Amino acid sequence: MNKISILLITGILLLCCSKKTIQNSRKKNRGLIAENAMVVSAKEEASKIGLDIMKQGGNAFDAMVATDLALLVTYPVAGNIGGGGFMVFRLADGTSGALDYREMAPISATKNMYLEQEGKVVSDNSKTGALAIGVPGTIAGLFEIHKKFGTISIEKLIQPAINLANNGIVITEAQAKRFSQHKVSFRKVNQKRILYDQQWRAGDTIRNPLLAKTLERIKTHGRDGFYKGKTADFIVNKVQNLGGIITKEDLENYNVKWREPIIFNYNSHKIISMPPPSSGGICLAQILKTIEPFNIGQYKHNSKKYIQLIVEAERRSYADRSYFLGDPDFVDIPTESLISTKYLSQRMKSFNWNKATKSSDLTRGSLLGFESDETTHYSIVDHYGNSVSVTTTLNGAYGSKVFVDKGGFFLNNEMDDFSSKPGTPNMFGLIGAEANSIAPKKRMLSSMSPTIIETNGQLKMVLGSPGGSTIITTVLQNILNILHYNMTMQESVSEPRFHHQWLPDNIKFEPSFDTVVFGPLKKLGYKIDNSNFQVIGKTDAILVLPDGRLEGGADPRGDDKAEGF
Ligand code: GLY
Repeated sequence: MNKISILLITGILLLCCSKKTIQNSRKKNRGLIAENAMVVSAKEEASKIGLDIMKQGGNAFDAMVATDLALLVTYPVAGNIGGGGFMVFRLADGTSGALDYREMAPISATKNMYLEQEGKVVSDNSKTGALAIGVPGTIAGLFEIHKKFGTISIEKLIQPAINLANNGIVITEAQAKRFSQHKVSFRKVNQKRILYDQQWRAGDTIRNPLLAKTLERIKTHGRDGFYKGKTADFIVNKVQNLGGIITKEDLENYNVKWREPIIFNYNSHKIISMPPPSSGGICLAQILKTIEPFNIGQYKHNSKKYIQLIVEAERRSYADRSYFLGDPDFVDIPTESLISTKYLSQRMKSFNWNKATKSSDLTRGSLLGFESDETTHYSIVDHYGNSVSVTTTLNGAYGSKVFVDKGGFFLNNEMDDFSSKPGTPNMFGLIGAEANSIAPKKRMLSSMSPTIIETNGQLKMVLGSPGGSTIITTVLQNILNILHYNMTMQESVSEPRFHHQWLPDNIKFEPSFDTVVFGPLKKLGYKIDNSNFQVIGKTDAILVLPDGRLEGGADPRGDDKAEGF
């Protein structure tokens, strides 16, 4: 062998070894591994409480009730009883379903309630204050789930949250910062000081005995402990004193809906996600089915071509979202056509690798800026093989900021998820049309995308995210990370992300995203927005490893935590 050959072989060996080392070191970045069961949520206390229930023999649904109420106490920015949510489940035998406990518009809500006489949107009324509140659904949702699937008494599931509220939560740096950011609006909206409106520091303990009492009433009277009696009085008095329109009749009439999930195949995987009134399942199906023929795995992760393909699929899907989607109890949604391969390939006819499609060529619109968006997602797998994927929300951070003082909790500002006026963007910059206009008892369109993936008939992954309009694209990128790029669950949730939603016609990148692709994308006509944009989504997910163990991915963008056994 001559010198050159030896050098060449040594070089190749070195390259292979270093590649292997990189791959090995990537592999080391695993999240928590557990043999039996796992909860991944926005706060350690909530994950622990949910896990404890499963250690006592409870199933994923029992754990869901306990985790959800723990989040209400320990994560008041989004954990709630004053908001609503969606749950997608898959039982050990493969049966799946979805529960919609989304907020509903009050009975006296009207289509033009946020318009001034000249027809302009009075933008703040749908975002903050008493008029922004939809009729909450969370307690009705949790009781419905417990009735259908619960195995542990509801009293036992509520008690840990009561204890937490009485004993207090120790707040983190991020929480202290967030309380302080919202102090002014708490005071302005409530016209007085509320529990959270103080100079909190990391490590301080916040007790909420009035919330503990609310939970006691719910424990004693069931869902009536929220929708009737004292708690209902507290809500209605507070809301009406601040000029809102929610009545006791609204609360008494709130109902949940079991829905058929959106189920579709992506390559050999079965994706189960939330149907309308969430746009999540349909948009995920549209985007994944649009890119499926392109075999995206051939492109380097987060490279120019990877981004182009996803952005063009997202652009087309969000344009459809804005026109076709709304509450299925009020509008006919052509779901099958929207996710058919024939339709989606037609939509991509205008796609060109050499030039960005213009959103204005798909349809028209304009943009307002992004605001803080807070929702929360948790994923649970139990030792019986059941899984639940839950996204729940007050909409914005602390919702409407209206705090039911006597009950110790915040109320949502979900009315902003309606389209107040066709063509006028909401706080996420999302444009809506008639399908998502306001009507009494109607549910506002959502982007929440609790999702479960099955491969070869076996559970593969449970995931979801907060993030308003960026929820769908966050979930999408995590699916691709796992299915095509061989990442661990922890690596996947930690990866930098990007987002496009048709309008505004720009790609948002997280600050940590490698800027090397910006120049080449700009050359093709893509507009880049990495200004002033913090994080995109916050994914809490569980991956089933080939040996059947579970890996938790807790998003490092927050205080999120996986707990398992
Ligand atoms: N409130 C955010 C969403 O439902 O999409």
